Amino acid sequence: MSQAEAPDGGNRRDFLYYATAGAATVATGAAVWPLISQMNPSADVQALSSIRVDVSSLDIGAQLTVKWQGKPVFLRRRTPEEIEESRQTPVDELPDKIARNDNIDSAAPATDENRALDEAGEWLVMIGVCTHLGCVPIGEAGDFGGWFCPCHGSHSDKSGRIRKGPAPENLWIPVAQFVDETTVQLG
Ligand code: FES
Repeated sequence: MSQAEAPDGGNRRDFLYYATAGAATVATGAAVWPLISQMNPSADVQALSSIRVDVSSLDIGAQLTVKWQGKPVFLRRRTPEEIEESRQTPVDELPDKIARNDNIDSAAPATDENRALDEAGEWLVMIGVCTHLGCVPIGEAGDFGGWFCPCHGSHSDKSGRIRKGPAPENLWIPVAQFVDETTVQLG
């Protein structure tokens, strides 16, 4: 399918999301599940405490969404500009000054370094659920170029930190780690 055939009048970004998602796979233990199965998981799959996500197909500036424990999880490979901008934002300017990262101390401040998965900050992995009332935010959107929740207008920055709107907390970072160069384990 070409970009011109993006379904439902979706824009190029929407189409790129589907194309990227379709090319990726999610591994659960010994089994390898096509992403399409993951998007509509059976109860036993939904209950899995950890899954492995192959991110080898993700170019810099691209994002992948998988479903884990019934929730969307965003995996974004950020550009150097996104990292730079996120790291220069003073924590004092943030409505929620807590990192909200399940991998580190629960009181750790919301620096970008405390939210990225890797030291260089290229990888950002977040639960894709708005902390206001649970809608799924849209990527590369909103006043801060990060994520925008259209339900009631919450704008997050390129580190997934709430900057404007009713969401009380930053987008949460789940338990996650690289288990090899191209595989992220959630949970
Ligand atoms: Fe996202 Fe209300 S659910 S702003």
